Amino acid sequence: MNSLFQLSSLSVDEIQHLLDVAEQCRQGRFIDSEKGKIVANLFFEPSTRTQYSFNTAEEKLGMKVINFNAQASSMQKGETFYDTVKTFESFGIDAVVIRNRQDEYYKQLQGRINIPILNAGDGKKDHPTQSLLDLMTIRQEFGHFDGLKIAIVGDVKYSRVAHTNIEVMQRLGMQCFISGPEEYRDPQYDYIDFDQAVKDMDVIMLLRVQHERHEQAMSLTQEEYHARYGLTLERVKAMKDTAIIMHPAPFNRGVEIADEVVECRKSRIFKQINNGVFVRMAVLKRAMEGR
Ligand code: CP
Repeated sequence: MNSLFQLSSLSVDEIQHLLDVAEQCRQGRFIDSEKGKIVANLFFEPSTRTQYSFNTAEEKLGMKVINFNAQASSMQKGETFYDTVKTFESFGIDAVVIRNRQDEYYKQLQGRINIPILNAGDGKKDHPTQSLLDLMTIRQEFGHFDGLKIAIVGDVKYSRVAHTNIEVMQRLGMQCFISGPEEYRDPQYDYIDFDQAVKDMDVIMLLRVQHERHEQAMSLTQEEYHARYGLTLERVKAMKDTAIIMHPAPFNRGVEIADEVVECRKSRIFKQINNGVFVRMAVLKRAMEGR
């Protein structure tokens, strides 16, 4: 059964294959190829891009889609997460897409739910489809991964995007660094000064400060953050000619990224969002294999 919990369980060849399928999806292949299948999107944490790009991917594949609303469900009467997922399985649907704020929520489902589960983000641990769309965007830009340098800047410690990306990017031969405020650094990764990173990197990936995961307020004001770690137009001018800017979004204009940088020539932010539809088509197709 082709569930997807973490990219670390896929080989480099499997990841490259998923990116190849995603490129085929981008070129218009596989429209309506999963007609008749039913998938439920179970989001227990807010989402715009992941939920609705999965929704778009499912529609393109011809699937029927159930978008679950936890606030209007029997969870309000005390039904558990497990019982909710088990109920959807009992309807006879073909797959579930799940986002949950609990790290590794899927461990309580493994071996007990017998339809594919696609992880749309678990706590601060993993975000496999975000990472795939990031990889697709980088491969489109440079044609390869080996030797490319990336700095992931900002709230790394609480970021499932950073954790998933650094693990897979290192396996693909990229050199990964982190930058940003000390309180959000993760000591297992190589640190680089932000202004040095701006000059040296092929990819600058900015992260939002995830206040919703913090127990304490940030020690910097938003203005201080922007001055020290924000990607301003002045800093963009110092980047290499070929370097690009990425962000998983949502972004906070005027904090980690200046308003005028969001859609500047080097920004690939909306390209990433567009690629999200195609990588999600690819993982849904993989999940449907053999069903
Ligand atoms: N990048 C991302 O996961 O965005 P959403 O939280 O809007 O899905």
